[in-house]
Amino acid sequence: MYMKAVVISVLALLVLQHAVKLYFRMDYNKHIFNHYPGPCHQVQGMGIGSEDMHLTDNGIVFISSGFRVQESPPAYDKFYSENNGRGRIYLFDMNNPKKEVQEMSLTSTKEFDKDRFQPHGISVWEDKKTGKLYLYAVNHEKDGEEKIEKFLVSVAKLSLQHLKSYFGDPTIKRMNDVVATGENSFYFTNSHSSVSRAGLQLELLSLMALADVGVHDGTGYRTVADGIIVANGIQMSRDGKYVFVAGSMGQDLKIYERWNNNSLTLKQSYAFHTFPDNIMEDPVSGDLYIAFHPIGYLLFQHLEDPSVETPSQVLQVKLKEGTVSSVTELFVDDGHLLSGSSVAVVYKKKMLIGSVINKLVYCDVNVPL
Ligand SMILES: *[C@@H]1O[C@H](CO)[C@@H](O)[C@H](O)[C@H]1NC(C)=O
Repeated sequence: MYMKAVVISVLALLVLQHAVKLYFRMDYNKHIFNHYPGPCHQVQGMGIGSEDMHLTDNGIVFISSGFRVQESPPAYDKFYSENNGRGRIYLFDMNNPKKEVQEMSLTSTKEFDKDRFQPHGISVWEDKKTGKLYLYAVNHEKDGEEKIEKFLVSVAKLSLQHLKSYFGDPTIKRMNDVVATGENSFYFTNSHSSVSRAGLQLELLSLMALADVGVHDGTGYRTVADGIIVANGIQMSRDGKYVFVAGSMGQDLKIYERWNNNSLTLKQSYAFHTFPDNIMEDPVSGDLYIAFHPIGYLLFQHLEDPSVETPSQVLQVKLKEGTVSSVTELFVDDGHLLSGSSVAVVYKKKMLIGSVINKLVYCDVNVPL
């Protein structure tokens, strides 16, 4: 009898402790106010969502749109179809931001069905010798499998020609993002180890560090980093020395040193106390720009029903020899202008911010960077 009471009390205490931790991790105690780096507006003429981007060295931005996972909530699917959601890739030119955003054409093949394409993280490999561009995209293939698709890019023809699907390896679980390291090689993040909706929610609420990073080196796959609480965006420094991973529910940035054999060694875990999504690098300064979801519980409501607004935030992260040297907030919005910011690029004092399943926003940057 006495032992039973002790066990029950200890369990109750553990549950209470976890509940308090979740209360703060989900930001129920937080409030934010708007601020912008200059004039900002919503970019017209595109479908719903602009979850991830890739910025080329010369200021062309590739944008993935139409984010949807395999088991999607009913309100999400209603919003998706009402807004003509579908898997698309767009181009935006930072050198000419008044020009309209352009949709790239996709063609189905025996291996690839464009009507089942549900893109998430993307990354472009620029082959400096041949001038060819290859786009990799995580695809939560509709009623299908978790895949990474590779396309040959033609910017002139605005087309993507499907070349290859990568799938079926046990290191591939529920993927989120990809970063290209070559013509047939990449790193990818698994945000969760289960693909089912129930498993995913349990993993989210448990706050256990079950997420990892995999690599495909052209021949095989292997896991190169783990112990991350919901791994989200991944980026590699342009010199190839460092790999950056956003730990969303861990609210941190993992910085890894990269070896010739693609192995990664953790160099720093930097705590943000806000929920990071995708990571972009300024091609000239090497500064990182990371989009955040400052109020976690509103993000989860938004992902259940995208008509619920959730705030947006962009931080600039300066680095020195692969560790964080300063962090500055550039943009915050309460969700009216932009709900659920998932990615931001900054190029020559112009900023483009994407969202999971909402608008695309362009801002002039009139503050010192
Ligand atoms: C990769 O290289 C590093 C540094 O040389 C070494 O410590 C590590 O064991 C290597 N990993 C593999 C899988 O070969």
